[in-house]
Amino acid sequence: MKKVVLITGASSGFGKQIATLLSQEGHQVYGTSRKTVNEKLPYQMLVMDVTSSESIKKAVETVYKKENRIDVLVNNAGMGIAGETEMTTEAEIHKIFDTNFFGMVNLTHEVLPIMRKQKEGLIINMSSLAGIFSIPFQTFYSATKFAIEGYSQGLRFELQGSGIKLVLVNPGDYKTGFTGSRIFNERMGENYEKFKDCLKIIEKDETGGADPKKVAELISKIIRNPNPKHRYLTGKFDQKLAVTVKNIVSPKMFFGIIKGHYGM
Ligand SMILES: NC(=O)c1ccc[n+]([C@@H]2O[C@H](COP(=O)([O-])OP(=O)(O)OC[C@H]3O[C@@H](n4cnc5c(N)ncnc54)[C@H](OP(=O)(O)O)[C@@H]3O)[C@@H](O)[C@H]2O)c1
Repeated sequence: MKKVVLITGASSGFGKQIATLLSQEGHQVYGTSRKTVNEKLPYQMLVMDVTSSESIKKAVETVYKKENRIDVLVNNAGMGIAGETEMTTEAEIHKIFDTNFFGMVNLTHEVLPIMRKQKEGLIINMSSLAGIFSIPFQTFYSATKFAIEGYSQGLRFELQGSGIKLVLVNPGDYKTGFTGSRIFNERMGENYEKFKDCLKIIEKDETGGADPKKVAELISKIIRNPNPKHRYLTGKFDQKLAVTVKNIVSPKMFFGIIKGHYGM
């Protein structure tokens, strides 16, 4: 059945692939980005900065006025910051939380009354494997994804009986614009050399990551499923395996495994 879908961060990476595939499948897709996109795309683009409540309201109003419903919300927009934890400024921490966490929360709260009125809807929140275990020198990125996990798991209790489903998607490393858009905190602290070495491993994992089309196919599958799972892990086998390992071994042993991977 044709759905009205709103996807944030559809100018690049996962969002662009998801919006393209869902449009090809016949859904009415609205993608968002902070800037006007001039490229010809198979879906409609709206300007939305998820850090601005006004911008969120305006975009949701536009979709609702045209379609009188929103069936699927894909909270995908996000950014990264890398650097030494102690050397990160308050402004940088606020920026990443405003984008990755508060942006998702504010948009969800704008769309929920529409879905509640419809008595149905699907919210897909883009978390990360970094929402299950922290990645060194991406502490605040991981913290935003942990916050998304807590928020989503909590909200799900309150959506019971409403007809609205909430799904978390946890990708491993994928080759998108994420690596290039990441902000670097280059301030030097006690761990600066370790940070530089670790960053090489992080970037190698990302640039050698999986094809983001796979995430688009997964989202399409979730939308078609009348009874989706609460969480979908996606990515290379060893990265998904890390989550199983985390559930089996002691926290100390798991810390050692991750530490070893990043050469720390
Ligand atoms: N790539 C990976 O390996 C990976 C793994 C796990 C999770 N993720 C998550 O997947 C999501 C998408 O990332 P991606 O990999 O596709 O990265 P990407 O290619 O850099 O795309 C990020 C998208 O987010 C949008 N965005 C950034 N800040 C925004 C803001 N303030 N308001 C509105 N839109 C904003 C960007 O649009 P504009 O710049 O045009 O506004 C862009 O379309 C993120 O939540 C990320 O954390 C990625």
